[in-house]
Amino acid sequence: MTSGFAVEMQDVLKQFITPEGGILSAVNHVTLQIKDGEFFSLLGPSGCGKTTSLRMIGGFELPTDGKILIHGKDMSQVPAFQRPVNTVFQQYALFPHMTVEQNISFGLEMKGVVRSERSKRVSEALEMVRLPGMEMRRAKQLSGGQQQRIALARALVNKPEVLLLDEPLGALDLKLRKEMQLELKTLQREVGITFIYVTHDQEEALTMSDRIAVMSKGVALQVGKPEEIYERPANKFVADFIGETNFLDGVVKGQNGSLVEIELTGTGTVRVESSRKFTNGQQVSVAVRPEKLRLNADIQEANHLKGNVENVIYIGTDTHYGVRFPGGQKARVREQNITQAHKEIAIVGDEVTVSFTRTSPRILTE
Ligand SMILES: Nc1ncnc2c1ncn2[C@@H]1O[C@H](COP(=O)(O)OP(=O)(O)O)[C@@H](O)[C@H]1O
Ligand SMILES: [Mg+2]
Repeated sequence: MTSGFAVEMQDVLKQFITPEGGILSAVNHVTLQIKDGEFFSLLGPSGCGKTTSLRMIGGFELPTDGKILIHGKDMSQVPAFQRPVNTVFQQYALFPHMTVEQNISFGLEMKGVVRSERSKRVSEALEMVRLPGMEMRRAKQLSGGQQQRIALARALVNKPEVLLLDEPLGALDLKLRKEMQLELKTLQREVGITFIYVTHDQEEALTMSDRIAVMSKGVALQVGKPEEIYERPANKFVADFIGETNFLDGVVKGQNGSLVEIELTGTGTVRVESSRKFTNGQQVSVAVRPEKLRLNADIQEANHLKGNVENVIYIGTDTHYGVRFPGGQKARVREQNITQAHKEIAIVGDEVTVSFTRTSPRILTE
């Protein structure tokens, strides 16, 4: 029996020789277990090793060390074309003068699938990507979004166990990209295939994924559900990369059970709940999201810090207030514009109180 995991990366290392003759660890001892039927994203900035990880799963690169398993089977000796995976790239590379049907069935033809079976599978694949009856169109006559769907159909027609997608929506404009995000997610649920999705766009990863691995410099820093990654980032990099975070630096003054007292440098003392144990004098960062801060609000059992408004930015749904505290630390407060008669809570120069509950922040040390 298999492990229940579609794909496992076991302590995978991939090194490249740089043009200067040095060694670059593009993927640096990554261990990941991707569940069957999961929509799993590799998220991180450019150059963090996402594509290299995907290429090793697909068999286009071999690990320098470590193992890749697909459904429990070691892939070391299995060439790319024999792996039960297919890849969709950002550059979808359709043959422009060929018809949609020819583009999709190309791979099936190579495999020797008979014509009647081919056309049946092509029309099924076109149904899946919501372009039924498009067989006879030429690829170059299609819009960017339609071409991306054809590229997807071309991958799905092979009935892979795992679909690898490398920034497949990167070439589309924002509105179309958002539509396709939801469609891809729906499609993935319908077909039940494991998707491994590479993106540098945190919002995209949050929207689509069952779980996310946040990568930086070849290392998987945190793996979890979108809400875990967002609400409980493991370190400053993750807190900063996913959404927006205020970091208020300070020193631990004491801890009473789960309640930690922290003196924020030049700003004031706050109390924050944490399950971790800290030592007195320890340097920490209180990380708190802008939407969890309130301006001039009367909240019980909360922390209150006085500061001055430096800037006010109205962005329609919300208004952002940049607040500077006496010691020079800053925070951004996001207030939702709920009522129709929008009225600013404060203007530039006003003295304000920034409040947050004891459970809102995370205390981060790295
Ligand atoms: N074939 C290669 N030879 C040398 N360096 C490479 C090669 N492929 C990728 N790299 C390097 O490995 C790092 C990770 O690249 P990549 O996996 O493409 O990142 P991402 O997809 O996250 O942007 C980068 O520094 C990149 O320059
Ligand atoms: Mg890449």
